[in-house]
Amino acid sequence: MKILETNRLILRHQILEDLDSLYELYRDPEVKQYIPDAPRTYQETKEELEWFFKGHPKYPQLGLWATIHKKTNQFIGRCGLLPWKIDDREEVEVAYLLAKKYWGQGLGTEAAQGVARYAFDRLHLRRLICLIDPENQASIRVACKLGMAFEKEFEYRHGRCLVYATSREDDVRR
Ligand SMILES: CC(C)(COP(=O)(O)OP(=O)(O)OC[C@H]1O[C@@H](n2cnc3c(N)ncnc32)[C@H](O)[C@@H]1OP(=O)(O)O)[C@@H](O)C(=O)NCCC(=O)NCCS
Repeated sequence: MKILETNRLILRHQILEDLDSLYELYRDPEVKQYIPDAPRTYQETKEELEWFFKGHPKYPQLGLWATIHKKTNQFIGRCGLLPWKIDDREEVEVAYLLAKKYWGQGLGTEAAQGVARYAFDRLHLRRLICLIDPENQASIRVACKLGMAFEKEFEYRHGRCLVYATSREDDVRR
């Protein structure tokens, strides 16, 4: 099922046929450099894919979605919205990950902006965050281009990360 569309991308629910492409992404050490909880094996990748088949099992409006490059019809990444509980607060993270071949063309920003617009306009969420490894400069740039600002640090089971946040009222696109 299609979730949203941008100029160059379609985001839709993942299907079993995406598994090999998703595994290719997660096999690339550079792609998962700042994603410590990324699946490590084909089986773990399959489990993650199945977990998000119809959206997040507990919050079906959220999830990780196949990101399809319209021009080539290729699966080039997985982006979406993930639920978190941070400091006793329910949060929704904008998540983005693309194959290296597609970096540096504005597609990460385009996907993230499409997801944020969908979250604010269609799901009527009031606040969005990004959880970012302090070394991940590309991701920090994408978060800033969403109108997010650094809010705090967060210690979770994989280490320290930065919380960037924006609220619907701050949304720069309005
Ligand atoms: C983060 C990611 C999606 C960005 O994708 P992208 O398509 O290359 O991003 P864009 O082309 O839209 O670039 C966004 C901004 O980041 C900057 N940028 C890109 N790579 C960078 C790098 N390695 N260091 C510093 N800045 C970088 C770009 O210059 C651009 O900023 P600008 O418009 O001010 O010039 C991509 O790097 C990725 O998939 N990384 C691996 C997964 C990941 O870490 N996801 C985030 C987890 S929190």
